[in-house]
Amino acid sequence: MEQPATTGEPNPEPVSGAVQAPDERAVERRLRPATLDEFAGQRAVVGNLELAIRAARARGEPVDHLLLSGLPGLGKTTLAHLVASASEVELFEASAPTLQRAADLAGLLTRLEAGDVLFIDEIHRLAPAVEEYLYSAMEDFVLDIIIDQGPSARSVRIDLPRFTLVGATTREGLLSAPLRSRFGIHERLEPYGSDVLAEILQRSAGILGVGLDDDAAAYLAGRSRGTPRVANRFLRRVRDLAQMESDNHITQAIAVEGLTRIGVDSHGLTRVDRLILNTIGRAEGNPLGIKTIAAAVGEDERTLEDVYEPHLLREGLLLKTPQGRRLTRQAWAIIDPEGARMDAEQLRPEHGEPDLFSQE
Ligand SMILES: Nc1ncnc2c1ncn2[C@@H]1O[C@H](COP(=O)(O)OP(=O)(O)OP(=O)(O)O)[C@@H](O)[C@H]1O
Ligand SMILES: [Mg+2]
Repeated sequence: MEQPATTGEPNPEPVSGAVQAPDERAVERRLRPATLDEFAGQRAVVGNLELAIRAARARGEPVDHLLLSGLPGLGKTTLAHLVASASEVELFEASAPTLQRAADLAGLLTRLEAGDVLFIDEIHRLAPAVEEYLYSAMEDFVLDIIIDQGPSARSVRIDLPRFTLVGATTREGLLSAPLRSRFGIHERLEPYGSDVLAEILQRSAGILGVGLDDDAAAYLAGRSRGTPRVANRFLRRVRDLAQMESDNHITQAIAVEGLTRIGVDSHGLTRVDRLILNTIGRAEGNPLGIKTIAAAVGEDERTLEDVYEPHLLREGLLLKTPQGRRLTRQAWAIIDPEGARMDAEQLRPEHGEPDLFSQE
């Protein structure tokens, strides 16, 4: 059972980004589209994948290795599962940082059967030694393992079934060229439009058994950072309020109140977003480096770059220049430069409480 939001206290559970509470992972699985048809938006990507799956089937081969890139929460993991289910094969899943040694990779690869999908999340974080083994596995479906050391060292070749590697990354730029070039298909997920997010919200509301007015869906969608995961998280938070106050029905007033309670303002900015803008504002027009901002805000640089900045950039509030980050005129209109210092103090998290979008 989730706790209904009965007080004005912000709920400490994070609302976006990559890190999820176990309870949330279970909800995400429930809300995950079961077929490619149910996957909303991204029509070009879905069309390309459907074609690749059909063509591979006609040839009696596995689908080409597929690289999915895009910001957290846009649907990479979901698509990996859908590629496997549409191809009627099993999916084996691993996160790159857990594959420390070649043996970890070998253990996974030797479990595969012909056509299966191996999904490696955060593939830009593979250890170089493991990555090198992956090259021959992807290209020739063999694994050359060195056993023993010194003079008795020898290489043993293991034949692998023909499989499909699906790699997901939030940082395509960090992928090495040799790895990138071994993927036959590259698909990039872009942030979703509000209309598609509203559609996703309506579907999720149906699954969660809560009523959602169209204007409420539009309000939530417009503040969801183009990200289905954020939209679904907002829905869950607001549902708690609807359950307590409006007979399990989300009206626009409930949506507005629900988001306000969790610190999301009418511009769709969270506490950390405002803190970032205020921090840069305090520099009085001087550009600030990411390290300075990270220190002032209390978030790590990666989270700032992956989660907060893309939204601020898209909203036209932040400028990235070679000298550092600056505010746009539009951002100056939102923050109050006189009160920036005070705001920053007030906005500072108490007791290390995470922001809605924090990664732990
Ligand atoms: N196009 C979509 N239609 C419906 N629901 C979606 C869509 N894309 C994502 N979702 C939902 O949003 C949530 C997050 O998606 P997913 O876990 O696939 O994101 P991700 O790109 O793998 O994120 P991360 O980079 O953090 O791993 C899931 O509950 C998923 O079902
Ligand atoms: Mg994922």
